[in-house]
Amino acid sequence: MKDYFKHHPWQIIEEGFNPHYHKIAESVFSIGNGRMGQRANFEEAYSGESLQGSYVAGVYYPDKTRVGWWKNGYPEYFAKVLNAPSWISVHVSVGDQNLDLAKCKVENFKRVLDMQTGLLLRSFTATFPDGKKVNVEAQRFCSMAKGEVGAIRYTLTPLNFSSKATLSLFVDADVKNMDSNYDEKFWDEVYKKADKKECIVVAETKKTHFQVATGIRYVVKENDQEIPLQIKTETREKFAGNIVEVDLQEGKVLTVYKYAAILSSENHPKEQLVEQCSKILNESVTIGFDKLFQEHSKVWEHKWNECDITIDGDVAAQQGIRFNIFQLSQTYTGEDARLNIGPKGFTGEKYGGSTYWDTEAYCLPFYLGTAEQHVARNLLVYRYKHLQKAIENAGKLGFKDGAALYPMVTMNGEECHNEWEITFEEIHRNGAIAYAIFDYIRYTGDEDYLVEYGLEVLIGISRFWAQRVNWSAERKKFVMLGVTGPNEYENNVNNNWYTNYIACWTLGYTQEAINYVKARDERALQTLSTRIRFSEAEAIHWKKITDNMYYPEDKVRGIFLQQDGFLDKELQTVHELGKENRPINQKWSWDRILRSCFIKQADVLQGLYFFEDHFDVETIRRNFDFYEPMTVHESSLSPCVHSIQAALLGYKDKAYEMYLRTARLDIDDYNNDTEDGCHITSMAGTWLSVIKGFGGMRIKEGQLHFNPFIPDQWQSYSFRIEFRGHVIKIKVSKATIEAILVSGNDLIVNFMGKPFTLVKQQSVVITA
Ligand code: BGC
Repeated sequence: MKDYFKHHPWQIIEEGFNPHYHKIAESVFSIGNGRMGQRANFEEAYSGESLQGSYVAGVYYPDKTRVGWWKNGYPEYFAKVLNAPSWISVHVSVGDQNLDLAKCKVENFKRVLDMQTGLLLRSFTATFPDGKKVNVEAQRFCSMAKGEVGAIRYTLTPLNFSSKATLSLFVDADVKNMDSNYDEKFWDEVYKKADKKECIVVAETKKTHFQVATGIRYVVKENDQEIPLQIKTETREKFAGNIVEVDLQEGKVLTVYKYAAILSSENHPKEQLVEQCSKILNESVTIGFDKLFQEHSKVWEHKWNECDITIDGDVAAQQGIRFNIFQLSQTYTGEDARLNIGPKGFTGEKYGGSTYWDTEAYCLPFYLGTAEQHVARNLLVYRYKHLQKAIENAGKLGFKDGAALYPMVTMNGEECHNEWEITFEEIHRNGAIAYAIFDYIRYTGDEDYLVEYGLEVLIGISRFWAQRVNWSAERKKFVMLGVTGPNEYENNVNNNWYTNYIACWTLGYTQEAINYVKARDERALQTLSTRIRFSEAEAIHWKKITDNMYYPEDKVRGIFLQQDGFLDKELQTVHELGKENRPINQKWSWDRILRSCFIKQADVLQGLYFFEDHFDVETIRRNFDFYEPMTVHESSLSPCVHSIQAALLGYKDKAYEMYLRTARLDIDDYNNDTEDGCHITSMAGTWLSVIKGFGGMRIKEGQLHFNPFIPDQWQSYSFRIEFRGHVIKIKVSKATIEAILVSGNDLIVNFMGKPFTLVKQQSVVITA
């Protein structure tokens, strides 16, 4: 699959139609705007293999879980992001022949995702079975300026015939999820209308009762002149459309402008959905495609100004980073605190569109570095709002007294995962949520957050850890049994080093936070303590745990052990695995995977990444040298951490290899799973691998530090960072590092350990 899409700095380009890769392309060419998004399904009917997907932010369905043997503590449901009503159709038939790329001969097929302007384009020539040839060009976007608007320009040019044709333009809410556990459909019809001007369907989700109004209007022009149309309306359950008869004239361009409005009851009172939908459609038609597109591309221009990374001399690397930034930006804009970032964003159903630890461990730093502070804060507040549910969640598993266990997967704070054998014991996610509070405050200096929200969350999580460990009389240490670390190719292990470490770190950090709040606002601490019945005796017990925790290690090799007994495994390197065995999650039995030493994603190394300053570089090196060769990186979250660590250790080639792997994971379908959707949350990791990896950015004592290096393949690279009300641009070339303070007051920034004062709009050039 590598190099299937053409390299280009601003575009993803597919040339030639290859049905075999169509589902991958549908994922990669996805478009969205934070409120909604969709896979790059075709406008015309397509009978070949495809994953139909249109998604509306925040709209989900609690599907009944499917497990063989029900056990206490299993969640009641598996939340799914819903495949939402489709608005993209422009079905074309000439006589009794449908324009269907699976049935016509297709030539000159080209699909382009223009990331600079957020436009999906497609063009091709199709020959019908009877020899009629038509040229098609399609353009589509989900407006970044008007979050409820989508628009299509679809042109048809008959090349060797003139004939009547019909266009079928509709809203279809009779859609389903491929991953429906019991093959159910999740939408009910509430309202529909199809007149000769507009079609609207309001559909409601079963159980959760979200309503989504989807409406369309259209204008048809021939050689740029609007033409009168013969229209028939068509309705059936959950479906409203128009059938339009047109005369196709050889050589003349017929253009359909289709406008869509997609409104959710999350943002409008249900009783106003139809009226508002109609209003937005009317406005869109009046504004017109070109102007709507102009507004939309202006927003992209602004976004790119804020977060573009340029790489000179390596188009594959440039395309990769822009693709990651593009997809991430169209998934989550940070404007709505109720939303979060699903691992597949709006590009597929997998992972249910829910919130995972990915947000705290990977996405948060991206928003810290590229957006205003409130965006990252919103992500933390999201978890604060789920604290009571996290306490209930822990309660269901037998924990008490305010212990909080955040879900591995959630929509509304409740645990809603399906794959129990894998994620049930991944309690490490609790640690990532605590770490994010630390990370946010370290970056922003916003210590008010601790007083207002953070401390309460930290106490809840610490209470959980304190109850989850147990005293081992045998070892005379505290241990943590029956967990799964980040490496999901191990289940139910004892003393996962990473989990033990982050648990004890949380206990220590919570104590620090208590001391801080006490010193700053003792009354606030007292009020909180009374409300949540917290006593200092608890913290004394925490200290006992942190002082006496057991950490598996191998003193001979000088490494931490992923878990008890890790060295009993047959130790092999990925290099020794033939290609035919990879990805192992598609080629091997689960039994074989669990017994093997192969590591799905950074685990010990995840800990060393988070807590880098707790260890000397040689310790990190020994662990990296031991674990990296066994890591198969079958989680998208893995290569970015390895890239950052390799950069720290001076392993330039490895850092570059891992960078390309994370940046081009979906474009090159490294893990053979892009057809399910793109790996959105790991895209933040790609950004990190440039900023923290190559740029060597760290925050120490409230100051920015950079220690950049440039991969041999690059001439230069540049990026922009938001930091505490300042904006800094950095360009790293082979011989120099140039820094400019774009906005904000004078700022001390450290390069290679030396402080430099940046003054607004003056550039500082440092010789590397
Ligand atoms: C990873 C998890 C991650 C999830 C969602 C899994 O493959 O192992 O760590 O949270 O994907 O991205």
